[in-house]
Amino acid sequence: MTGRRRTAVLISGRGSNMQALVAAARAPDYPAEIALVVSNRPDAAGLGYAREQGIEAVAIDHKAFADRATFENALDTVLHKHDIDLIACAGFMRILSAAFVEKWLGRLLNIHPSLLPAYRGLDTHERALADGASEHGCTVHFMVAELDAGPIVAQARVPVLPGDDAATLAARVLIAEHEIYPQALASIASGEIAL
Ligand code: GAR
Repeated sequence: MTGRRRTAVLISGRGSNMQALVAAARAPDYPAEIALVVSNRPDAAGLGYAREQGIEAVAIDHKAFADRATFENALDTVLHKHDIDLIACAGFMRILSAAFVEKWLGRLLNIHPSLLPAYRGLDTHERALADGASEHGCTVHFMVAELDAGPIVAQARVPVLPGDDAATLAARVLIAEHEIYPQALASIASGEIAL
């Protein structure tokens, strides 16, 4: 390994997956360094956490831009300014265009709260419950232009339990997310897994 890979985490809110990545990256032998946190929402709680940890944290408010392309240009500029090599989307709730994804192809990861290819898109926990699914979970995947359709890096399964509602199920899935995302980022940063 030639140095820790400079990784940006993209968030839109709470940032608990970002916190799990930051915690994992504290280990000296972890192959990635969380060098930057970017939120498209200036009020994202995760920005404050990152700053407390001494990590550069930047808000790029998508509402301040005329369209997706100019927002993504600003994002791309910040990523390059910080010499970023890998991007981990973690609860980043903006769709990234095909042009942006193409530029970062193979270096752009996402975590999604379902067992892909099941339940792409939003409201995954509600939909799993409505279907009477007995299992649910989460997936880390390489991002491609098609939403939530990229090659799978890691998955974790959790049971759906009697009496679950979307909140209890989401909480169980989130615990699994915090386990697999640091492992998946490590496999990619070390070169063990590539697109
Ligand atoms: C996580 O459950 C993540 O999988 C999901 O948002 C939550 C963010 O929580 N992502 C998506 O739904 C992406 N479409 P966090 O901010 O605490 O990491």
